[in-house]
Amino acid sequence: MESLFGTGYSDTMNYRHAFHAGNFADVLKHAVIAQCLDHLKAKPKPFRVIDSHAGVGAYDLTGDAARRSPEWQAGIARVLETKRPAAVEAALAPYLKVVKAMNTGADLTAYPGSPELAARLMRQDDRAHLCELHEADAKTLDARYARDARIKVERRDGYKALGALVPPREKRGLVLVDPPFEHRDEMAHMAEAIKPALTKWPTGTFVFWRPLKDLWASERFDVGLAEWLFEEGLAAPEKILRADLWVRDLESEGKLAGAGVVVINPPFTLEGHLLALLPWLAEALAQGDGAGWRLDGAVTDDSLSVEEF
Ligand SMILES: C[S@@+](CC[C@H](N)C(=O)[O-])C[C@H]1O[C@@H](n2cnc3c(N)ncnc32)[C@H](O)[C@@H]1O
Repeated sequence: MESLFGTGYSDTMNYRHAFHAGNFADVLKHAVIAQCLDHLKAKPKPFRVIDSHAGVGAYDLTGDAARRSPEWQAGIARVLETKRPAAVEAALAPYLKVVKAMNTGADLTAYPGSPELAARLMRQDDRAHLCELHEADAKTLDARYARDARIKVERRDGYKALGALVPPREKRGLVLVDPPFEHRDEMAHMAEAIKPALTKWPTGTFVFWRPLKDLWASERFDVGLAEWLFEEGLAAPEKILRADLWVRDLESEGKLAGAGVVVINPPFTLEGHLLALLPWLAEALAQGDGAGWRLDGAVTDDSLSVEEF
């Protein structure tokens, strides 16, 4: 395991988020992160964002990668061009505020990654710690925030960094773990790698992103994590929320059809926002038959709420 996920495997890091920026999975993940950040801002006390797999920060939708793979057209572009009921608008407000601030012209040309969402939603005294292992991407990320004293960038294995970075001095904040899932065992590796951080900081808000490709693996991750948290006495069932979105039948061939997040210690407002948002996203972003969503709390419970269109 060590050889696969230690720094020694960096030359097998082929994943480039620019090919996927603004797709349906980003929309859900980034809407959730923006809601969490917005909630943290409700109190004047500063907070910290820890992003273990940060990417390059922001994405040029007119660039080569986005032109070759314009997944954003079926993601953020559709969100912006579809009529949004008030409850959906409220759920998306902090996220769309950033997207709109980056796109003041007539066309959608730029898209925020998780670091840029943090940078634009944080206040003067809030802090962010970003880890990115890919050499060139870490350089791009570092250059982007070089003049922002609130933001620290490290070229470092985010999994290994997590345990050392929590709890932050501020004692409140958000941890995002958003790996590329290039390696077959990544879900199992993520499940183990996050335990030291959860043990050291059980009151932090953690957002774990995972694809819904291998349903068995994602179920094992969700249920395994929830059961471990209960057993260790680190989280009560109501402190775990899972939100998934799929844009066509999950069994269908081709590109990623579904993804979602597991949130530990979600803001109490998040579930209500997601209940309004997920059915709307499943309809607005559908790419074929069988699009759907689910939102559930205690993920060891059998009674999952699953909706299909
Ligand atoms: C899905 S992308 C991150 C996207 C970003 N969080 C966002 O929402 O905009 C995953 C990133 O993790 C980086 N990466 C892969 N393995 C890593 C590791 N062990 N530690 C830190 N970064 C890693 C990849 O180079 C890639 O840029």
